[in-house]
Amino acid sequence: MTEIHTPRLLLRRWSDDDLAPLADVNADPHVMRWIGDGSVLDADGTAETVERWEEEWDEEGFGVFAVELLGSGELAGAVGLSVPESLPEVLPAVEITWRLGRPFWGQGYASEAAQATLEFALQDRGLDRVVGIVRPGDAASKNVLRKLGMEPERATTHPVHGFPLHIHSIDLTEYAA
Ligand SMILES: CC(C)(COP(=O)(O)OP(=O)(O)OC[C@H]1O[C@@H](n2cnc3c(N)ncnc32)[C@H](O)[C@@H]1OP(=O)(O)O)[C@@H](O)C(=O)NCCC(=O)NCCS
Repeated sequence: MTEIHTPRLLLRRWSDDDLAPLADVNADPHVMRWIGDGSVLDADGTAETVERWEEEWDEEGFGVFAVELLGSGELAGAVGLSVPESLPEVLPAVEITWRLGRPFWGQGYASEAAQATLEFALQDRGLDRVVGIVRPGDAASKNVLRKLGMEPERATTHPVHGFPLHIHSIDLTEYAA
């Protein structure tokens, strides 16, 4: 069982108890604005997403973590690694991704979980490069990418939705945790 403790968070695999709190996160248009085509997800969509993340864990040995607050046990959201199949031009690649419920923004939780995820990518999985794929207006994600030391690399266009995307990356062999 893959689990990571940070000072304030537990990063772990998903359980059925996470589906309802994650569905609340996915139902919030402010959270989903920069994810995919910006649509919110219902309970079925949330269950399918978690199933896909768990399959990726089983197949790749990495995936998207459930992020739990150590103090209260609340589910804050999802942070982790994924293969960006929706953007074939960057493959082979592993992407870092994040999505927290609004009550958990502005407290440094995303950065804390993301830093632990990069350490996991390097130390546990032996990955030497991770990309971040964001839409240009997603200032909160760009702030996290900057704090992680992920450098802007190039711009491209989403192959299905047609909106611009910015690709950032980090060479983990030079990553000082
Ligand atoms: C993107 C997202 C995860 C960023 O979350 P966030 O809370 O803004 O990010 P951080 O964890 O870095 O926290 C930011 C702020 O918390 C504050 N903070 C409070 N306590 C802190 C602490 N102990 N440590 C660090 N920062 C702290 C800081 O002011 C920090 O801002 P700064 O970097 O300007 O100093 C969040 O906005 C989100 O889930 N958005 C919706 C989903 C989304 O868009 N995903 C990306 C799609 S590609």
